[in-house]
Amino acid sequence: MSRLAIIGGTGLSKLVNLENVSKRVVKTPYGEPSSAVTLGRLNGVDVVFMARHGYGHTIPPHRINYRANMWALKEVGITDVVAVAAVGSINHAMSPANLVLPDQLIDYTWGRASTYFEDDLETVTHIDFTSPYSASLRDKIKRAMSQADIPVLDKAVYGCTQGPRLETAAEIRRLERDGCDLVGMTGMPEAALARELGLSYACCALVVNWAAGLEGDEISMHDIEGFAKEGMCKVEQLLKALVYEMGVTVDV
Ligand code: HPA
Repeated sequence: MSRLAIIGGTGLSKLVNLENVSKRVVKTPYGEPSSAVTLGRLNGVDVVFMARHGYGHTIPPHRINYRANMWALKEVGITDVVAVAAVGSINHAMSPANLVLPDQLIDYTWGRASTYFEDDLETVTHIDFTSPYSASLRDKIKRAMSQADIPVLDKAVYGCTQGPRLETAAEIRRLERDGCDLVGMTGMPEAALARELGLSYACCALVVNWAAGLEGDEISMHDIEGFAKEGMCKVEQLLKALVYEMGVTVDV
């Protein structure tokens, strides 16, 4: 039986349509998660929500305790994770306010605690990460996008930068040469930790700005907030369609 968790990023620190809400504080061997996990029902289906940056949006991307977050989700029994993340776009076909389902990633982060497999090992473990996102969960999200009349943009490489600053124009040109379509700060090590824990994980990226140097001389926070607001309505619609989709197609 599948059980879905939604990780909310910038612009999504709670789910508005969640009913029967309760919170659970989960202790982990890796310290404190960003927030208590929220349990509730979305469209009649039990889901779990976590605010990646904390409920007050106070934890910057490089300070998030990704290990504790993913551990806490596993601990409350979830099997699938939809990670909602605000991103900048490097690809002109992916304009602000669009949702994109990346199928690949490149990790440019450094110094983040990025594995569970480092202490007290009986053997060294290397997870397969050829395809960083779960194909079956992506298929469900794609069907939900179609149901919700959201254009399905599902071929994209997500470049994960360290932050918290935005990139220089030259850094974005490098990411473009590397083949990145999107740039964000929170996709890693989250995706790899999910794989280490055996969770199905997919990223639902909301484009909130053109990446540095693509349009104009600087990036406006005001514009980012506007696109985040506009896009999050689409995210809410998508999640409603997704839980319905998962509710009717889950393996029993
Ligand atoms: N760069 C990195 N992370 C981001 C951006 C960006 O332009 N926009 C939203 N998250």
